[in-house]
Amino acid sequence: MLFGRRMRNLAFYLASLLLFCPLLAKSGSPGLNDDVLGLIVFKADILDPLSKLASWNEDEDDPCGWTGVKCNAKTNRVTELSLVGFSLSGKIGRGLLQLQSIQKLYLSKNNFSGSLNPKLSQLESLRVVDLSENNLSGVIPDEFFGQCRSLRSLSLANNAFTGHIPPSLGSCLTLAALNLSSNRLSGSLPKGLWSLYGLRSLDLSGNSLVGEIPGGISRLYNLRSISLRQNHLSGRLPDDMGSCLLLKYLDFSVNFLTGSLPDSMHRLSMCSHLRMASNLFSGKVPTWIGKMKNLEFLDLSRNWFSGRVPESIGKLQLLKSLDLSRNRLTGGLPESIGACRGLTDLDLSGNSLTGNLPSWVFELKLQRISVSGNKMSGCISVGVSATSDRTLSYLDLSGNAFSGAVPLVLGNLLSLQQLNLSWNLLSGSIPASILALETVEVLDLSRNLINGSIPLEIGKAVSLKELRLEKNSLTGEIPVQIGNCSSLATMMLSQNNLTGPLPQTIANLTNLHKVDLSFNRLSGNLPKQLSNLPHLLSFNISHNLFSGDLPAGNFFNAIPPSSLSDNPGLCGSVVNRSCPTVLPKPIVLNPNSSTSSANTSLSSKNTRHKKIIFSISALIAIGAAAVIALGVITITILNMRVRASTDPHSAAALALSDGYYSNSPSTDANSGKLVMFSGSDPNFSTRAHTILNKDCELGRGGFGTVYKTILRDGRPVVIKKLTVSSLVKSQEDFEGRLKKLGKTKTF
Ligand SMILES: *[C@@H]1O[C@H](CO)[C@@H](O)[C@H](O)[C@H]1NC(C)=O
Ligand SMILES: *[C@@H]1O[C@H](CO)[C@@H](O)[C@H](O)[C@H]1NC(C)=O
Ligand SMILES: *[C@@H]1O[C@H](CO)[C@@H](O)[C@H](O)[C@H]1NC(C)=O
Ligand SMILES: *[C@@H]1O[C@H](CO)[C@@H](O)[C@H](O)[C@H]1NC(C)=O
Ligand SMILES: *[C@@H]1O[C@H](CO)[C@@H](O)[C@H](O)[C@H]1NC(C)=O
Ligand SMILES: *[C@@H]1O[C@H](CO)[C@@H](O)[C@H](O)[C@H]1NC(C)=O
Ligand SMILES: *[C@@H]1O[C@H](CO)[C@@H](O)[C@H](O)[C@H]1NC(C)=O
Ligand SMILES: *[C@@H]1O[C@H](CO)[C@@H](O)[C@H](O)[C@H]1NC(C)=O
Ligand SMILES: *[C@@H]1O[C@H](CO)[C@@H](O)[C@H](O)[C@H]1NC(C)=O
Ligand SMILES: *[C@@H]1O[C@H](CO)[C@@H](O)[C@H](O)[C@H]1NC(C)=O
Ligand SMILES: *[C@@H]1O[C@H](CO)[C@@H](O)[C@H](O)[C@H]1NC(C)=O
Ligand SMILES: *[C@@H]1O[C@H](CO)[C@@H](O)[C@H](O)[C@H]1NC(C)=O
Repeated sequence: MLFGRRMRNLAFYLASLLLFCPLLAKSGSPGLNDDVLGLIVFKADILDPLSKLASWNEDEDDPCGWTGVKCNAKTNRVTELSLVGFSLSGKIGRGLLQLQSIQKLYLSKNNFSGSLNPKLSQLESLRVVDLSENNLSGVIPDEFFGQCRSLRSLSLANNAFTGHIPPSLGSCLTLAALNLSSNRLSGSLPKGLWSLYGLRSLDLSGNSLVGEIPGGISRLYNLRSISLRQNHLSGRLPDDMGSCLLLKYLDFSVNFLTGSLPDSMHRLSMCSHLRMASNLFSGKVPTWIGKMKNLEFLDLSRNWFSGRVPESIGKLQLLKSLDLSRNRLTGGLPESIGACRGLTDLDLSGNSLTGNLPSWVFELKLQRISVSGNKMSGCISVGVSATSDRTLSYLDLSGNAFSGAVPLVLGNLLSLQQLNLSWNLLSGSIPASILALETVEVLDLSRNLINGSIPLEIGKAVSLKELRLEKNSLTGEIPVQIGNCSSLATMMLSQNNLTGPLPQTIANLTNLHKVDLSFNRLSGNLPKQLSNLPHLLSFNISHNLFSGDLPAGNFFNAIPPSSLSDNPGLCGSVVNRSCPTVLPKPIVLNPNSSTSSANTSLSSKNTRHKKIIFSISALIAIGAAAVIALGVITITILNMRVRASTDPHSAAALALSDGYYSNSPSTDANSGKLVMFSGSDPNFSTRAHTILNKDCELGRGGFGTVYKTILRDGRPVVIKKLTVSSLVKSQEDFEGRLKKLGKTKTF
């Protein structure tokens, strides 16, 4: 059985060799169906990682039941092969040439490589070939078009074909659709292109074609759709452009085309898409544009068009999208556009338009409006519908000279996602209604004259990702409610007059990336929890009145100094200013005097060496501290079990009462350290490090570790480090504190 199968396989491989001599193959194995043979040979050449072609079994009499294969019911010959998106790779071999009756070949969205077999177009009945979205390469062979039989539709789009479009293209007169887009084709448009009078659709976009568009396109009277988008074509559009009366779709965007739009184009009354963006077209936007009654999409952006926006655009009743952005248009926006009832997208940004915002801007059911970067002025509120609007999602009026208040009615735009009113002359306060919009993701009111404070309603802007209010005249505090804006990633509040502290709730905003609070009058400590913000990239608080230490953590340890500059109260290693309040304030007890006459000194940088007059209560407190200290000493000594080695009369006691006060004084003030050493040894500080050697460790008791060391004069010293408080971050820190203590003791 197995053996028999192998023999059969062998027979097929022999047969596939014979295929190259078609005569032999036909006469030599009359029992074999040509189509089965062809498809099995095709399969043998390719990789099928998902086993999509598992049903292709050479034992069958005909392939009509195989995946992707369709046959003529009468002849049982294959008429269609459709293997779209099967993840097949390898080369498209000669097996397919055996499918004498195939009409449609769909192999798109695979990973076929290699070149295009020129013989494919010679298959007598093959009408449709779609090899798009593969990895085919090489030049398109001249013979492919030169000898084509009945090819009507060819797509080689999204492959890696190189070289010129073969001149023979013009002789494949059966072609109705040609799609060579997104390859690496170069050279100019072939001369014969416009002789393909049957062509209805031509897509050569996304290549590197150069040169001018030749005249004669009027011969393509069947043309419905043409895209030459994204090439390097130059020169003027052919004058006879407007003779292709059936044209619906025209895209010449992203080339180097010059001149004006040819007048003949006004005859293109079927045209629904006219896209000429990113070229070098100049002159006026033609008035005849109003005659292209079927226009739905008009994109003339990024050219050199000048003059006014023509009134006639108002006649385009079907217009959905109007993009005239980045030209040199002047004058006001015509009222007539208000008649374009179907308009949803309007982009007039980057021109030199003047005048007021016409009322139709808010009356039409627009989804996106941008008039940014013009010279428009006046109030915005005109015409904003007083009732709610659920269509507008994008409103960009930035970079004009609009004045007056930010209109309250903007709060009626219930689907608004992006609002950009920056770079205008708007005044008054921020309407709470805008912030109450739960849909708003981007709110940019920066660089205006807005005053008042940030409304507490900011807490309702739960979708807000980007908040830009910089360069206004805002006052008051940053509301704690901002902690509700859980999506917030960018918060720019710089150059205002904000006061008060940074609310602790900011630390809830775990998506924060960029924060700029510079040039305000914010004060107080930075919330410690800021160190928990995982995505922080920049945090600029320069030119404020912040004080205290920075939050811990990698981000704040490496923060650029310019992010902190000009905050006189800030301290910590990053600003090269020690934090005075963080140092412990030891109470130093003179071992020779009784507890009641204890001498005391505060070791803060500023008060050191200064005499301090104590109130009775302070003395009582000190006394109590000393009593506690004595108690601790006792326990210490019990713990140590090293009584013999220490002379109790030469030992002195020094208690450090930890006067650290921070944001949470109640917890930290309880921690402290007890150090015992002998009197005032001048070399104490220089020997401090030895105290911390492991060798000197005597034992670990219930309250901490006990060390012993010998001073230079031979006197033994016993030191007990009590709790390792949260203040003492490391051994170095502890040693540093001991050194300071050694320097400042005053008895
Ligand atoms: C396509 O095939 C090539 C080999 O020809 C292989 O390196 C590549 O990973 C394949 N790509 C995909 C997306 O399957
Ligand atoms: C296309 O084929 C080349 C080899 O010819 C291979 O290096 C490349 O990865 C393939 N590209 C894709 C997207 O599979
Ligand atoms: C050409 O093919 C590409 C890729 O398959 C496709 O996106 C594009 O719409 C096609 N062009 C036309 C005019 O059908
Ligand atoms: C708002 O518009 C200005 C000017 O047009 C632009 O620079 C800024 O990036 C825009 N803001 C946002 C958040 O996109
Ligand atoms: C804001 O400025 C306007 C003038 O533009 C002034 O009338 C108003 O009192 C100011 N409001 C605040 C809170 O400063
Ligand atoms: C915070 O958001 C919740 C909804 O997520 C809302 O109910 C609450 O009122 C908001 N708080 C403030 C202060 O706006
Ligand atoms: C901030 O307030 C001071 C005085 O209160 C004023 O001189 C200054 O112009 C204000 N700055 C801004 C940006 O509004
Ligand atoms: C926000 O932070 C405050 C204190 O800073 C806390 O009480 C509150 O639970 C936090 N809210 C959320 C949602 O994490
Ligand atoms: C912080 O803001 C100040 C003032 O705007 C600026 O000079 C400085 O370069 C900023 N620092 C960083 C790190 O961006
Ligand atoms: C702090 O001092 C170090 C070295 O002395 C110096 O490199 C750094 O620029 C200083 N930082 C500031 C903020 O002055
Ligand atoms: C303590 O007093 C004893 C004698 O009373 C004296 O020898 C010793 O030097 C004094 N120590 C200090 C630190 O004053
Ligand atoms: C306390 O110490 C100072 C030196 O800091 C000394 O002048 C003063 O006499 C001492 N007072 C007592 C009571 O020991």
